[in-house]
Amino acid sequence: DLRSLKAVVADRYKIGVGVDLDVLQNPEDVALIRRHFQILTPENCMKPQALHPAENVWRFEQADAFANFARSHGLELVGHCLVWAKDDRTDRWMMEEPDGRPVTRETLLRRIEAHVRTVVERYADVVTMWDVVNEAVADGGDDILRDSIYSRTAGVDFIVTAFRAARAADPDALLIYNDYNCHMPHKRRKLLALLRELKERGAPVDAYGMQGHLELGDNSLPQLRETFEELRKLGLKVVVSELDLDVVTRSRWWAEGGRYRAELARWDPYRHGLPPEIEQNALKQWIETFSLFEQYRDMIARISFWNLHDGQSWLNYFPWPRTNYPLLWDRQRRPKPAFDAVYRLLLGP
Ligand code: G3I
Repeated sequence: DLRSLKAVVADRYKIGVGVDLDVLQNPEDVALIRRHFQILTPENCMKPQALHPAENVWRFEQADAFANFARSHGLELVGHCLVWAKDDRTDRWMMEEPDGRPVTRETLLRRIEAHVRTVVERYADVVTMWDVVNEAVADGGDDILRDSIYSRTAGVDFIVTAFRAARAADPDALLIYNDYNCHMPHKRRKLLALLRELKERGAPVDAYGMQGHLELGDNSLPQLRETFEELRKLGLKVVVSELDLDVVTRSRWWAEGGRYRAELARWDPYRHGLPPEIEQNALKQWIETFSLFEQYRDMIARISFWNLHDGQSWLNYFPWPRTNYPLLWDRQRRPKPAFDAVYRLLLGP
């Protein structure tokens, strides 16, 4: 099998994958990565909570090892992520003054600037794209920004500060605002309002990172098309940053809870593989998804999967433990029928 995703899309966009450091220690995984991908996203080890446990304490070991892997194999990295705008993804020290009072705006912005500068300078040689701010837009309600220490303390200025600091430290990298569910009209409106405001304020945002955590039968594609159209009007690029297709879906789990679990327990085939009709539907959705991407390829700078093969996916754990099938390679690292179909589509007539 000589097929290579990166060879087939070389004239269009970069193709990548998000993995944890342990994956880079497995020779089979490394072979797959080197054949198909040119850009890696560290799944966890460059996050603020992994790198920066206290104001003057840094833990670079894992991120350094990851970066060295990329350097030695001639691969690029996505720096993920410089600011994760959620309280439960933020260490306490970031939220407080040394005396324990809530952090002031001045201190918070200074800390963000220092964090961004330190991380970006360290990895600028190998990182070509940065997820500068992750998940700042509110899921519900009318406010654009999610409630967090960042939005409460500094409003949109924390995002402006992060982007300016990233640009100053690495003038050549693609700077991304990364988020999920922005195909949904209410969240799309907020995303676009945010991106417009950032542009007006002169914040150097180059691209929207569409995470792309899709679910079987979610009908997100027509809505996604509208999001892409709006981004085009704003002159922004798109990266598909965390693509996967949840087939044992979290939505049904949330909506139906125990009833869904009982149904899954009866589907013994889940232990050995997908029921054929679900596999068919998933394959169809993979094809539709990549057909849409092909239609917008002039504005897409990268497509990255979130994890390499079915056995590695975070969707085997979140939001409950199960056997899931969200990727293009199976647990034995064999290409699935969905891989064949996507590859054929990308290859063209
Ligand atoms: O490494 C520890 C291990 O030592 C410990 O025994 C175990 C017990 O829970 O936890 C392990 O850490 C987990 C880590 O993944 C590594 O597997 C963390 O608990 C767990 O919270 C962490 O989850 C990650 C999650 O982000 C939160 O940071 C997922 O791997 C990662 O796939 C996920 O990725 C996010 C993106 O960053 C942003 N977009 C959404 C995406 C999916 O949630």
